[in-house]
Amino acid sequence: MEFNEVIKKRGSFRGPFTGEKISRQELQNIVEAGIAAPSGCNAQTTSFVIVDDEQLVRQIAAITGKDYISQAGAVIVVVTDQTPAYGSMSFYKEDAAAATENILLAIANGGWASVWLDGILRVGGIAEKIAALLAVPKGKNVQIVLPVGRPKEPVTQREKLPFEKRAWFNRYAG
Ligand SMILES: Cc1cc2nc3c(=O)[nH]c(=O)nc-3n(C[C@H](O)[C@H](O)[C@H](O)COP(=O)(O)O)c2cc1C
Repeated sequence: MEFNEVIKKRGSFRGPFTGEKISRQELQNIVEAGIAAPSGCNAQTTSFVIVDDEQLVRQIAAITGKDYISQAGAVIVVVTDQTPAYGSMSFYKEDAAAATENILLAIANGGWASVWLDGILRVGGIAEKIAALLAVPKGKNVQIVLPVGRPKEPVTQREKLPFEKRAWFNRYAG
């Protein structure tokens, strides 16, 4: 797919998925896109647990309360390490976001679909429950969860404001 087409094809998709499995090679290629992302001081604070075991996928669906996840072929769990990278500064959120967007674009490029699940992990200890399920060690955090599946319906990106409302040359003009 052409680069701009991939950017436009990415959209948050919350099911239904077909249940199609994804090969480990394809999952590795998708996650390699995340590994290639920039990170503050190249500290590479983001790591990934790729869940393709059906039972674990169903358990993540149950923990999050999101049924559509059980139809996903896999779930990519983005793990962060908040250890400072520069003085007392940690860029873990930015690092994870950069990796996640690369992964979402790779997912869209393969005709798969996903959604950036983040906010929902912060209530009721969901992130901690997923961390325990996947043996994520203490000191590392489950930051983002990305179900990956073949979409049963067209993927649409939510509408964005036009360029003129969000970007200007040389001077802020909003
Ligand atoms: C930091 C962040 C947190 C998000 N958290 C959630 C979430 O918890 N649940 C969810 O369904 N979508 C979540 N999303 C997806 C957004 O709702 C979605 O990106 C936004 O509505 C724009 O739609 P689009 O992805 O189709 O462009 C999150 C996205 C980001 C970037």
